[in-house]
Amino acid sequence: MADAATGIAATVETNGSAGNTAQYVFGTAFQREDERLSLGERLWDPGTISRLSTLGIGPGSRCLEVGAGRGSIAAWMAERGAAVTAVDIDTSRLDRLRGLGVAVCQVDVRTGALPVAAYDVVHARLVVQHLGDRAAAVRALCAALRPGGHLVLEDTDTASLFSHAAGPFHPEVKRAAYAVMVESGYHPRCGLLDVDLVTAAGLSDVRADGRAEVVRGGTPESRWFALWLEHLRPAMLAAVKESSVSEMDIDRAVADLADPRHTWLSQVMVTVIGRKDVQ
Ligand SMILES: C[S@@+](CC[C@H](N)C(=O)[O-])C[C@H]1O[C@@H](n2cnc3c(N)ncnc32)[C@H](O)[C@@H]1O
Repeated sequence: MADAATGIAATVETNGSAGNTAQYVFGTAFQREDERLSLGERLWDPGTISRLSTLGIGPGSRCLEVGAGRGSIAAWMAERGAAVTAVDIDTSRLDRLRGLGVAVCQVDVRTGALPVAAYDVVHARLVVQHLGDRAAAVRALCAALRPGGHLVLEDTDTASLFSHAAGPFHPEVKRAAYAVMVESGYHPRCGLLDVDLVTAAGLSDVRADGRAEVVRGGTPESRWFALWLEHLRPAMLAAVKESSVSEMDIDRAVADLADPRHTWLSQVMVTVIGRKDVQ
């Protein structure tokens, strides 16, 4: 049954799975996932907020934050006076949002349970890149927009990751980590793909830009990359392909990520913004 306040029916099966669709690669019992998500917010929120700030979010706006994670962007929208709904397949990290008046719903966006023509802004960061049927998911996010509303998709292009002045930085470990993610339905060039997905879904005035961060070893931002490897470590070690990496390879990469003598480039975060036509 749909929630009276949000019009959204919870769509996550009680065991946390979504039928026969692929499992979210980071949906594991990794003990430090909250810390990893918090470091990701620290790295990416300033750029996200500067882009969302162009859309006039404020009192009277209705916003949907998709795959809200720990909820920093939903909280920012609510603090500006918007009516905000935050959805995620796992809402265990979103309790603090309720105190800000945000409606929190456990939803698997692949199941198409979002209300139609309900929001002025729909935002999803680092979410669509994990979904198997990305085109269907983007169509569902577009359908949730009111006429005149904006979809803001943010996903990464991974080509630049671990670019280093001395040459590629732990390329085998990077390759092994992404191989695990691709097995779960992840697309490593999704940031660029989003431009086509948003255009194909029929939105107008589609614009896109990208930002890469310069990260120094030993900083809080660098720990986001180290915890990415730690989260994927068991799956990387379990992979049976020839290109698999050893425990020692991953240890070396994690140690270098903590070393201030190393500086590298992040992935490029691509932001795509499109507007739904007023009929
Ligand atoms: C990499 S995290 C990004 C979190 C947040 N958007 C951010 O940028 O800080 C991806 C989020 O999407 C959620 N997610 C993954 N698959 C989902 C699905 N099918 N439906 C809804 N949420 C999903 C995860 O639970 C997680 O919170």
